[in-house]
Formats: sequence, structure tokens, C-alpha cells
Amino acid sequence: MTTDPLVIFTPSGKRGRVPVGTPVLTAARQLGVDLDSVCGGNGICSKCQVSPGVGAFPKHGLTVAEDALSPINKVEERYDRVRGLTVGRRLGCQATIQSDVVIDVPPESQVHRQVVRKRATARDITMNPATRLRYIEVAEPDMHAPTGDLERLGDALRVAWEVEEITIDLPVLTRLQPALRKGDWKVTVALFQDHNGGPHRVLDIWPGFYDGALYGLAIDLGSTTIAANLADLSDARILASTGMMNPQIKFGEDLMSRVSYSMMNAGGAAEMTAAVRDALGRLATEIAAEADIDPRLIVEATVVCNPVMHHILMGIDPVELGHAPFALATSDAMEQPAANIGLTTINPAARAYALPCIAGHVGADAAAVALSEAPHLAEPLTLIVDVGTNAELLLGNREHGVLACSSPTGPAFEGAQIAHGQRAAPGAIERVEIDPVTKIARVRVIGCDLWSDDPEFATATAVSGITGICGSGIIEAVAEMRMAGLIDPSGLVGSAEATGTDRMIPEGRTHSYILHDATGEGGPLITVTQGDIRAIQLAKSALFAGARLLMDEIGVDTVDRVILAGAFGAHISPKHAMVLGMIPDCPLEHVTSAGNAAGTGARIALADIDARAGIEARVRKISKIETALAPRFQEHFVAANAIPHATASFPNLSAEVTLPDVSFNTGSGGEGGGRRRRRRG
Ligand code: FES
Repeated sequence: MTTDPLVIFTPSGKRGRVPVGTPVLTAARQLGVDLDSVCGGNGICSKCQVSPGVGAFPKHGLTVAEDALSPINKVEERYDRVRGLTVGRRLGCQATIQSDVVIDVPPESQVHRQVVRKRATARDITMNPATRLRYIEVAEPDMHAPTGDLERLGDALRVAWEVEEITIDLPVLTRLQPALRKGDWKVTVALFQDHNGGPHRVLDIWPGFYDGALYGLAIDLGSTTIAANLADLSDARILASTGMMNPQIKFGEDLMSRVSYSMMNAGGAAEMTAAVRDALGRLATEIAAEADIDPRLIVEATVVCNPVMHHILMGIDPVELGHAPFALATSDAMEQPAANIGLTTINPAARAYALPCIAGHVGADAAAVALSEAPHLAEPLTLIVDVGTNAELLLGNREHGVLACSSPTGPAFEGAQIAHGQRAAPGAIERVEIDPVTKIARVRVIGCDLWSDDPEFATATAVSGITGICGSGIIEAVAEMRMAGLIDPSGLVGSAEATGTDRMIPEGRTHSYILHDATGEGGPLITVTQGDIRAIQLAKSALFAGARLLMDEIGVDTVDRVILAGAFGAHISPKHAMVLGMIPDCPLEHVTSAGNAAGTGARIALADIDARAGIEARVRKISKIETALAPRFQEHFVAANAIPHATASFPNLSAEVTLPDVSFNTGSGGEGGGRRRRRRG
């Protein structure tokens, strides 16, 4: 009795015996090997390419003969002639197994291929999209066995692709009959199946074999800006990125003012819903134009946002999120027609998936950050801070699990409530350095790489001007003022006399610091006022107190690392954030930026439906701490008001930076007139 040939697939290492003459694709399916196919083995798509090995494979104890696979057949010859087949490659659906063989499946032929993310610490993305292309040959209608075209399409999909049940929306159904006849009963369908294993939904249909790509939108809907990435659904490659201001700003700068707008104005919530949905539609059109693709090929979208944005987008009045107990209408993920949320300019049958919310103040954006950064898998105790109008914090590791809270930082970190504050835009001061001796600052503005003490600076910034201070600029300014001894630990701004510099100017009973003076050239005078310092102190105290509450819950005084998420987090200097006491002390090199982690989470959810199931399960396990109800929040908030902190020690910071021991409290009721005390160290 002869034994069947042994086939070993690499890199998976899966092996088994199959009868002589078994196509490689069939063997792969039987052995559970990840080998792609769109045409179902018809020799059309070339997705099933493999590289058979020849010769000795001592590792596998196998010698592979030259003719271990069947000779190249006509289909492969034709494919090679028309499209070109890389030397050494075979079409897995055409080549059959004749004797023992080792077959390599190259990455591009793997269905669940890994996409390596740029950041070294980031986990790879596994491709497993909800929508796939399937080529199918459908039986022609028969007078004697009358069935509908859709039923025969379903039968063919069941046989070729093991698709149990299909569903189709009417607009797609209207295109089925012409497509079948035009394609001579061969069509390609875009089939969507959600991660809960529901019926397969036919999203689109093409006559014959459709050889193009499908795309998805990963949308990060923030209170201030809306950002979107357009990704290829076969490899998560980003083809275009775009952003726009959230038009809801006209209804209120921050989240609570938008909730108030809804409470105070009949139909206010609906107005905001319409505005944001309209913006999403425009954004989709823009991004398709930028990538030069047909918007119809965008068949999916994923959305991350905070709870208020989430409810408004879904058309749910956010009023319940405006007061305790901050009840969400639902915290579950939502999957629905994309057109429902304003994405009317893409494929009419496209689907949209909104990630789950964590709690009334901790949204799908934080869930997306958890998906991207996976703190539950980390060894070090990791604090993730997503700074915005409402800071969202996650703390955890493998040992402790993950806790979450949000903290009402207010808009100061975004440049609001600051005398010369502005949003991050060209011309805004984003970097600050104060000379510890002269007390003179040099600054850098967005859109120009030169520092202000460079002779070319004035010319280089002539177009943008120097228009104000953005969030990262004000953080650096306040921290630098503390390092230069111009404010004391309580946040009091010193007078010219107390600090020994005429950069301090009186302003009522307080003092301001001249950050940039271009009045000599007809430019602006930009100062940091006592009020600015107070606004930043309130914001950073809220942030620190939130982190502290989470640390209390775990029972620790320190964290091992801090990840600054969000577009803003990417621009914050770790040293300055720590001098200010925004974040708890930890080694400075362990404070990193994750960029737009929420946006990355949206991209991962787009690429991998298992990630959707994973984050839904994980969100249920995240412990939520409600800052508004926590008795110790106020205590932590007050202690965190000092710069960097009234009681907590910052040993890692102290090792790098010596903060002057100054006090400007005159005790006379006025602010900031006191004498300088000796410097420490
Ligand atoms: Fe499509 Fe082989 S499966 S060419």
C-alpha cells in the first residue's frame, strides 16, 4: 500500500498527508493553512500564489523532488503570459501535489497577514477585515427549476465559499440581474460579515472578476477636530489622511457646553447631529478625492469618539451625560449602515462600526487607545493619558488589569482660557526655552523650525506671524518659568524686583512675563499672565488627581511608564509635563508619545474583526472610576495645584532638573511681590 504524499506548509509548519493530485489550495484548506483566494480556485485572482521548495529539507526530514508538484498548466501559463508570475511561484489552485513537498506561503498570499506598525513598541495588526471580495460562477436560470437569481447566487456561495446565509439591501439587489448577465453568470461580490458571525451581507456586485481594492475609513471624531484615515482593506495601508474642525464648535467649545446647548434649545441635539453627520459626509468625499479613488469603493468605516460625541453622532440626546450618574444610552459597540451616521457619499451599502464606550465619561476613543496600546498585556504599570478638553486616563498592566477614568481638565491645554492662547496652527508658539541667567525666552512657532533668536526667524515667520501660544507652548512656558525661578511652587508670578528681570511686568495686582516681544518690529507682545498660570494649574491638577485616583485604586504611589496619547500628547515635552506635575513621576525616558492612539485603534478595528470582539470583551473588564463621585478627588486636586506637587516627591525629575526654591508670597494680599530665596543645590 502506498502512502499519500506529505505536504508541509511554511511558515505555519502545518503538515499532513493528502491524496496524489490534490490541489495545493485544497490541501491548505484541509490543513487549516492561511492561503488566500478571491476567485475560489478558478485561476483568475492569483491570490493563492505559493513557493514550492525543491531539494533537501533536513529540518523536516524530507527531500523534495523536482516534480513534487504537477507541471505548470495552461491556466498558469496564461496567467504568466498576461500578468507575469514571479519565478518559482505557482498558483496554489492549479498546482497539484504529486509527492512529498514543502510549500512556502508568502506574506502577500496569507489571508491573515501581519501588518508591522512603525513604532517599535506597537503590536502588529493582523489583517482580518469584515468585508472580502468573492468571485463566483452562478448557475443560469432554468425554466424547469425556477429559482431567483439571488437564490442561485446564494447556492453558489454556499458551495464555493461555505457561506451559510446571505442578505442584500434592495439597492444592491436591483443591480444583481444586470451584473449576472453582463458577466456571463460570473460576478464578484463584496461580502461583509460582522464579528458576531451574522449572515453575510452583499455590499456590492461587479460583473465578472473585479480585480480592484476595497477601502475603509477609520474616523476619530473629536470634540474639536475630526480626523480620518483611508485604509486599504487588504493590508491596512493608509492611502490618505485628512481632518477638519468639528462644526459643532459653533454650538459650544467644550463637551459640557454642547450638552447644555441641547438642554437649553429645543431641537438642539438634532441640530448638532445634522452638523456632524454632514461633516462626515464631506470628509469622506474629500479623502476619496485626495486618494483619487472612487468613493463607492469605501465599504466600511470605524468610528471612535467620546461619549457625548458618540451620542450626538448616533442621534441620541446627550442630556443624560450632563449630570450624575452620567448614564449612557448604551455602552455597547454599534454596527449599522454607514449612511445612518452621515456617510452618504461612500458605497450606499457601506457599514459603520462604532467602538464601545467604557463609561459615561470614558468613551470609545479611550477604548480605541486600549486597543492600540494594550496596557492589559504590559508588564510595567502603564499610565495612558489622552489629553483633550476632557482627559481620559487608563492605568494598568497584566497583573492589575486596567482601570479608567476621565478628568475635567477644561480647554486650557488646548490654548483656550489663556490670555494669548490659541489653537495649534501656523504662527502659534509651541516650544519655549527660558535662559536661566538672563530670564529671556526664545520660542519656536508652528510652521517654522527656527528659534526666535535666529537672525532669520523674523523673515521665516513673516507670513504666519506670531499669533499666540498653543497648548504645548503654554505647558512649556509655565514649566520653563518654574525652572527659571519666575514662578514659585504655588504658581505665583514674581515681580521684576523679586525675580531680578524686567521681563516681568505689572498687571493690576499681579505680574506677567514677556514671552515674546516683537513690538520693536511692529509685531505683537505676547505675555504669560498670572491668570494663565492659574488656568494651567487647574487643568493639570485635574489630570494629576485623576491619575492619582487610579493609582490609589491599585494601591501604588508610582507608575512605571507614561504614554501620552492624542495628537496633542505627541507634542508635549515629557520633561516639561513632569515639571508642571501633569503626570506622576517616573523615569523621563519612560514617558513616550503614542501619537494618535485612538485613531490607530480605529484603524485596527477596521483591519481586524477579531480586534472588535476583543475590545468589546476587554471593555467589559475595565474598571471605571467616577472622578466626580470619588471622595479623594478634591484632596488630590488641591495637593496637585502646586508645581510640580505639594506633597508627592518627584525623585526621577529631581535627578534631571533642579527647581529653584523661591517664594513670591508677600503675605500682603497682593500676588507675587516677595523676595527671592536662596537657590537649592
Ligand atoms: Fe484565484 Fe488561484 S485561487 S488564482
